[in-house]
Amino acid sequence: MKLKKLENIFKSFETYILKNPPKIPSFHPYYEKALWEMLQSGGKRFRPNLLLSVVYAHCPKQIKNAFAPALALEVLHTYSLIHDDLPSMDNASLRRGIPTLHTKYDEVGAILVGDGLNTHSFYLISTSKLKAKIKIKLIQSLSYNGGIFGMVLGQTLDCYFENQTLSLDKLQTIHLNKTAKLIAAALEMGGIISQCDKKTLKSLYTLGLNLGLFFQIRDDIIDITQSTKEAGKTTQQDAYKNSYVNLLGLEKAKQETLKLQSQIQKQLNSLTPQVRETLQLLLKDYFKV
Ligand code: IPE
Ligand code: IPE
Ligand code: MG
Ligand code: MG
Ligand code: MG
Repeated sequence: MKLKKLENIFKSFETYILKNPPKIPSFHPYYEKALWEMLQSGGKRFRPNLLLSVVYAHCPKQIKNAFAPALALEVLHTYSLIHDDLPSMDNASLRRGIPTLHTKYDEVGAILVGDGLNTHSFYLISTSKLKAKIKIKLIQSLSYNGGIFGMVLGQTLDCYFENQTLSLDKLQTIHLNKTAKLIAAALEMGGIISQCDKKTLKSLYTLGLNLGLFFQIRDDIIDITQSTKEAGKTTQQDAYKNSYVNLLGLEKAKQETLKLQSQIQKQLNSLTPQVRETLQLLLKDYFKV
């Protein structure tokens, strides 16, 4: 596997995001600018890079065609962040190193930009250059995992049960839904574009659920251990949340991430050497803890 080439693909994907803001001139003072602002201000691009890594490993010829669905995933994720930061949800003022949209503009603008990005993600997949059959499967995966059966359910539980201590089991359900399912969808969508068989799709999805759980526990740790400046987003926010750090304490939460890392490593070993290598390249920055 030429891993240097994959790093260049991540870079071209970044350019692709910056170059593809929807052009919607209107007499609204900031609608068009606000739509793409959170996408342009960066972020780790973890989910689209997972998708691209799977496609690069299985079917490198399809990589350019995978950019639109990868963007769709990042667009839907960005909507979830804009809404997550709203005053009625986590009430955060900084995201990706810049002021959140509701603080810079107004709440109604932020709500509507979020709504708009949610819908736009499906427009992006539907207008991509892939075969119709593949597009339908991608739409199904993204809407199932990012919608009422996944991310939205997780966020609803997370917000409703603030101030009430839940069992670890229930917290795990929240994390699986609010975060892990979209990460699992990223790997699954890469597999769909590569036309992987059902068994491989299932292995990718199951790996993604563990990876997503790991990712959210790591995020719970970041909330307590990093400053807002270091994280580029408002931290020290989770005092009233159900989080791994609040339920288990910082040390045990860290141990939990290590346990998950070794499970993920085992799952990686059951995949083809190509996927293992591409995913390991991406995950090395996250496995430091
Ligand atoms: C933040 O996601 C929300 C969680 C699910 C933990 P990321 O940590 O991927 O945020 P960005 O995309 O890098 O800004
Ligand atoms: C948010 O979890 C998960 C989403 C679905 C957006 P958090 O509320 O912990 O994410 P951050 O810490 O604000 O990024
Ligand atoms: Mg939240
Ligand atoms: Mg939050
Ligand atoms: Mg968090």
